[in-house]
Amino acid sequence: MTQTIDKVALVTGGSRGIGRQISLDLSARGYAVAIVYAGNTAAAEESVAAIASRGGTARAIIADIADEAAVSAAFDAIEADRGGVDVVINAAGVMPLGRLADLDLAELDRALRTNVRGTLVVDQQAARRVRAGGSIVNLTSSVTRFRNPGNIAYIASKAAIEGITMVLARELRGRDITVNAVAPGAIVTDMLSDFLAADSSGEERARISGQSPLERLGTPEDVSEIVMFLATEARWINGQVLFANGGAI
Ligand SMILES: NC(=O)c1ccc[n+]([C@@H]2O[C@H](COP(=O)([O-])OP(=O)(O)OC[C@H]3O[C@@H](n4cnc5c(N)ncnc54)[C@H](OP(=O)(O)O)[C@@H]3O)[C@@H](O)[C@H]2O)c1
Repeated sequence: MTQTIDKVALVTGGSRGIGRQISLDLSARGYAVAIVYAGNTAAAEESVAAIASRGGTARAIIADIADEAAVSAAFDAIEADRGGVDVVINAAGVMPLGRLADLDLAELDRALRTNVRGTLVVDQQAARRVRAGGSIVNLTSSVTRFRNPGNIAYIASKAAIEGITMVLARELRGRDITVNAVAPGAIVTDMLSDFLAADSSGEERARISGQSPLERLGTPEDVSEIVMFLATEARWINGQVLFANGGAI
């Protein structure tokens, strides 16, 4: 029997890492999933194939989340295909590194463009289009509390996402749409691998793993289960930033 799908999700960054796992888990809950990605078509197609192989429905749409025309066109395509959007997850992001004294300001611009402008652009379309009963979840990071030296542009951009989330929840009064953010600690993805690439001794990896009393790094599954709760179950958590880092300090 063919499964009837009437719930629709858009996941930015769904081609890799945390967004990929969220896409798989939303599909397992019966959502048709549109994966928005920046340029890694092979990864996006692999995510779509992984969902299809489990009996789900997915498509991949290439769009720079900071490009309002491209994001609007992505929402248009999903609405034309599926009739609407119920869940929007903003998992796309970039993490430039560098201490402020030496920071190349082009890296600041990159963080602000993708993480802040991109989140705002996607949330703007979500604010216009998500159906009643739906939800929006933005990915921020626990580094806004860890205050790591050398991560200043990224932390500035993620702090902005916390503000965007709290304000948008209130701007959507009367729409029956929840807006929350999830702030993971270190999660095993390409982003963390890039960060640890220069760490040949393994000391930084051990240090980060030891930050949680659970004495391990987080996984995309750890984050996705929280996103699933906020996006598909909880209706009374709204305008919140949920820190998910295994108790790391
Ligand atoms: N990993 C961690 O330790 C960690 C911790 C806390 C928070 N986070 C946050 O969680 C989110 C997911 O992180 P991750 O580790 O899964 O990242 P990742 O493995 O590096 O994947 C990044 C994803 O974002 C997409 N993307 C990047 N720039 C984009 C743009 N301008 N337009 C559209 N898509 C874009 C990429 O698309 P392509 O595949 O096409 O490049 C990819 O799907 C990010 O917001 C990150 O800041 C991560």
